[in-house]
Amino acid sequence: MPVSEVEENGQKKLIIEKDGAKAEVFLFGATVTKFETASGHSLIWCSKTAKLDGTKAIRGGIPLVFPQFGQPIKEMAQHGFARNNVWSCASKTDDSVTLTLDNTKVTHDAWPFAYKLTFKVSVEAEKLVTSYYVQNIGSDSFPFHCLQHTYLNVGDITGTKVIGLKSNRFLDKTSSDVTSLNFETSESAEISAFTDRVYVGLGGEVKVVCPSKTIVVEGRASYWSTLEASESVPMASDTVVWNPWEANARGMADFDDEGYKEMLCIEPGLVSAFHKLEPGKVMELTQVLGVI
Ligand code: BG6
Repeated sequence: MPVSEVEENGQKKLIIEKDGAKAEVFLFGATVTKFETASGHSLIWCSKTAKLDGTKAIRGGIPLVFPQFGQPIKEMAQHGFARNNVWSCASKTDDSVTLTLDNTKVTHDAWPFAYKLTFKVSVEAEKLVTSYYVQNIGSDSFPFHCLQHTYLNVGDITGTKVIGLKSNRFLDKTSSDVTSLNFETSESAEISAFTDRVYVGLGGEVKVVCPSKTIVVEGRASYWSTLEASESVPMASDTVVWNPWEANARGMADFDDEGYKEMLCIEPGLVSAFHKLEPGKVMELTQVLGVI
């Protein structure tokens, strides 16, 4: 079925339907807000109080972080500017859309570089593949972070376990020393409190075993010498695990009070350090979201 376009609260949304699966993507932030598989699983969480009118980054779905994760550059908003600007639709096929954002549209004084972002959303019956490319189209190298801030619909966080974190190092952003590296010992991690961790160098597959389904999030990164190159070089990526829990959820107007009970963010990214991208070069961060 061809991709359709609707307008909601003044914002354009693209709807991709393929073999019984359905995804929705706003041009605002290139934010995917829905993915339902052909077998009827809804894998993405979106807050009931999320702003969908372009006044704020969408609280839920897959917001895109760039060029900073958190707020190391104080003059720029937390998580950068990609998630709260309107992207362009560069192309569509029957089962995908490709959106772009570049420095002719959005710049920031605190980060004055020539960049191009490309985000391709591809739908399969039981999978959503989102490929995020950061390209340096200028003549100076630039430092950046990027991340797919994926909000998963886990149904019931008390019955959810995360598998695939064991033996990895992580930064604990809830601790008093956010720079010290911790070691994950849990084979099957339960989330029962405010959690905000950066698993450093953890790419590949993380399984989120929920009461009614198991969601698989695969993150992988690679480096391209040019966008047209025939081969890329795999790179280590990171995975962020976040649930704000009750008090922090209540503190966010666009996070519905009970929402923390049914969501968990598993976020593939390049965020544990700034990456330097030379002119002409490209880094790719792809997420494959599925259910087993
Ligand atoms: C996570 C960060 O990725 O995003 C958290 O690790 C942060 O520290 C969270 O609180 C939400 O950020 P924001 O800007 O969307 O409220």
